[in-house]
Amino acid sequence: MEEYLVEFKQIEEEALKDIENVKTLEDVDQNFIKYLSKKGKVSLLMNKIREVQDKKKFGEAYNELRKTVENKLNELKAKLEKEKLDEELKKEIIDITLPGNHLVSTNVNPFYKIIEEIENIFVNMGYTVESGPEVVKDKYNFELVNIPFDHPARDMQDSLFIDETTLLRTHTSAIQAMVMEKSNGKPIKIICPGKVYRRDDDDMTHSHQFGQIEGLVIDKNIKLSDLKGTLELFAKSMFSKDSKVRFRSSFFPFTEPSVEVDISCFKCKGKGCPTCKGTGWIEILGAGMVHPNVLKLNGYDPEVYSGFAFGVGIERVAMLRYGIDDIRRFYSNDIKVIDEFNKKVED
Ligand code: PHE
Repeated sequence: MEEYLVEFKQIEEEALKDIENVKTLEDVDQNFIKYLSKKGKVSLLMNKIREVQDKKKFGEAYNELRKTVENKLNELKAKLEKEKLDEELKKEIIDITLPGNHLVSTNVNPFYKIIEEIENIFVNMGYTVESGPEVVKDKYNFELVNIPFDHPARDMQDSLFIDETTLLRTHTSAIQAMVMEKSNGKPIKIICPGKVYRRDDDDMTHSHQFGQIEGLVIDKNIKLSDLKGTLELFAKSMFSKDSKVRFRSSFFPFTEPSVEVDISCFKCKGKGCPTCKGTGWIEILGAGMVHPNVLKLNGYDPEVYSGFAFGVGIERVAMLRYGIDDIRRFYSNDIKVIDEFNKKVED
């Protein structure tokens, strides 16, 4: 028998003996290195091919030896990996008898309840509800509602710009401008609810993000008395059937005349109490007759058309309606608080 075959046999026996003692995946790796790596005991045998005549026979024997060792190690590796995985799975087993996490479903946030109530009141008066994007072009938020570039009225709403001409809308008037644009000079009767954003310090009554509902009516022959009647009906439906409204003159760039609207206190009926700070009246919204410039800018002839607009803060209405002390409660997502408001609504 050729000499190299004897040596092959010895190495094979040695390897098989080593493999018998393999216990871990690390042992498998060690044996791969010891026998099959570039400088491994099996691999080094290949050098002897230079000394033999019958290279084919040598090659076959060598390959056989290599395959035997390799197969044994691979089998062991697969077995050990499976054992390891089984062990891990056993450890990670899920105990289905443990109690699960309870998902609590709750009532609607009063913010949305109020939107729905206000929408119902106005839809009953023949209004349509319009919505629009929260990120808008300067044109819709300012220019088309008579707040030109560099106008000091922008300071009040100097807000969150995305780029030079794009910002988070500061009032829902931006939706009104969009609706006027697509109405092509036709009459309009809409309310626009939505979230608005302003640079503001957050405290009990202010938030950098809040909700607004604005109304806009444009038609022939719309008068200030129509605005007053509309808002009185709103106050009666929302707060108390005896509600009255009063106008105080004010300024908004998009309305002329502009008014600040108060409602008679629905708690004390005008006698004076903490809710109305002793005055008998509660300031509730801003409004006015649509400024002729706004009509012109949006394709309406102010000699033919007139209109009114108003804007009300959603949280402000909800706070008055439910006696909520802090605007931040709307956003804290506290289930207990939300349930409490809903009880009040049902009362
Ligand atoms: N857009 C005004 C604001 O956000 C509210 C308003 C609307 C006032 C319509 C008058 C008329 O302050």
